[in-house]
Amino acid sequence: MKKIIGFAGSTSSTSINKQLVAAACSHLHDVSIEILDLNDYEMPIFSVDQEKKDGHPQEAHDLRAKFMEADGIVCSMAEHNRTYTAAFKNIFDWCTRVDLNVFQERPMLLLSTSTGGFGGGNVMQAAKGYFPKAGANIIATFSLPKFNDHFKDGRILDSELDQTFKTAIEEFAKAMNEQ
Ligand SMILES: Cc1cc2nc3c(=O)[nH]c(=O)nc-3n(C[C@H](O)[C@H](O)[C@H](O)COP(=O)(O)O)c2cc1C
Repeated sequence: MKKIIGFAGSTSSTSINKQLVAAACSHLHDVSIEILDLNDYEMPIFSVDQEKKDGHPQEAHDLRAKFMEADGIVCSMAEHNRTYTAAFKNIFDWCTRVDLNVFQERPMLLLSTSTGGFGGGNVMQAAKGYFPKAGANIIATFSLPKFNDHFKDGRILDSELDQTFKTAIEEFAKAMNEQ
C-alpha cells in the first residue's frame, strides 16, 4: 500500500492548512496516511553559529526520514506576511542544511489556503518556485481563497473550487500510482 505523508506549514493547533491537507487526503483511496504536526519538529532558530556549535538537530533528520518513507507528500502552506510561516521556514532551513534534497523527488500535491482572497497565493508562488530545488516533484497545486467562506465540515462548499481541488488530487494520485 502506498504511503502518504501530509503536513501543513503551520504550528497552529487550529491550522486551516492542516484541515485542507486532511480534506485532500480523505479523497485518496487504498493508501496509508500520516499527517505530521510541525510542533513535533521544533528546532532552535537556525544560525550558522548554532549549527557549528551543536550540528543538525535530530528532528531535522527525523523529518527527512518521514519524507523518505513516503510514496507521496501532501502539504499546504500557511502564509504569514506574504511568505512561509517562521516555524516552517526554520524547520525547512535546518532540513536543507542536512541535504538540499529535502523532499527526495517524491510526488507532491502542493496546497495553500488563507482567510484572505488570494488563498496564500504568495507563499504558493514561493514554494512552487523553490521546492523543486529541494527535491519536490510537484504534480499539482491548488490554492483555496477565503477559507472561512469556502470550507465547512471537511469540504469545499463552492462547486467550481471543489472540482478544481479534486482534479488536482486525481492528478497527484495518478502520478503517485504510476511510479
Ligand atoms: C503574522 C500573520 C501574518 C499573516 N499574513 C498573511 C498574509 O500575508 N497573507 C494572507 O493571506 N494571510 C495572512 N495571515 C492570515 C493567515 O492566512 C491565517 O492566520 C491562516 O489561518 C494561517 O494558516 P494556518 O491556520 O494554517 O496557520 C497572517 C496571519 C498572521 C498571524
